[in-house]
Amino acid sequence: MKKLLAASVAGALMMGSLNVQAADVEDAVEHRQGIFSAMKWYFAPMGAMIKGEIDYDQAEFTRRAELLSALTHMAEEGFVANSAEGTEAKPEIWENMDKFSGGFDQLQSNAAALVEASKSGDMGMIKPAFGEVAKTCKGCHDNFRED
Ligand code: HEC
Repeated sequence: MKKLLAASVAGALMMGSLNVQAADVEDAVEHRQGIFSAMKWYFAPMGAMIKGEIDYDQAEFTRRAELLSALTHMAEEGFVANSAEGTEAKPEIWENMDKFSGGFDQLQSNAAALVEASKSGDMGMIKPAFGEVAKTCKGCHDNFRED
């Protein structure tokens, strides 16, 4: 009886952990996609300001750069094991984790540099710093995101 109980408890725990795992993957995917959407939300209007499509406002530009910079630290942990299926994440990510992770390091330092440049209010500094961030987004998408 005791043995049976132990076995069924172990069974229940195992099933429980399997369920938790599936939910964890779903949550992780939702997390990273949400963070990327938020990055775009903060990033795109900065581009529009640089192009003159909307009025440049230094405080607003810096606010966006700072929030973008915070977000660059959040997406990577959403790339948990076995979470490519049904998403735009290429399986190559998990075969080249060092390179992929390096893309986030680059994004973080380029976004931090954009925050600094934004505080100068000098387009001569802001434009190239923005360009470096955009290049980092695109570089990783070219390698690791399905079109
Ligand atoms: C190190 C790699 C990497 C970098 C850097 C990166 N991305 Fe991505 N991005 C991805 C991957 C991989 C996906 C696909 C994620 C998925 O489908 O689960 C993605 C998806 C997205 C999406 C779609 C999200 C959704 O709703 O499914 C947007 C928008 C996006 N990225 C914007 C950006 C912006 C803006 C930047 C730069 C500020 C950026 N990304 C930098 C790898 C990266």
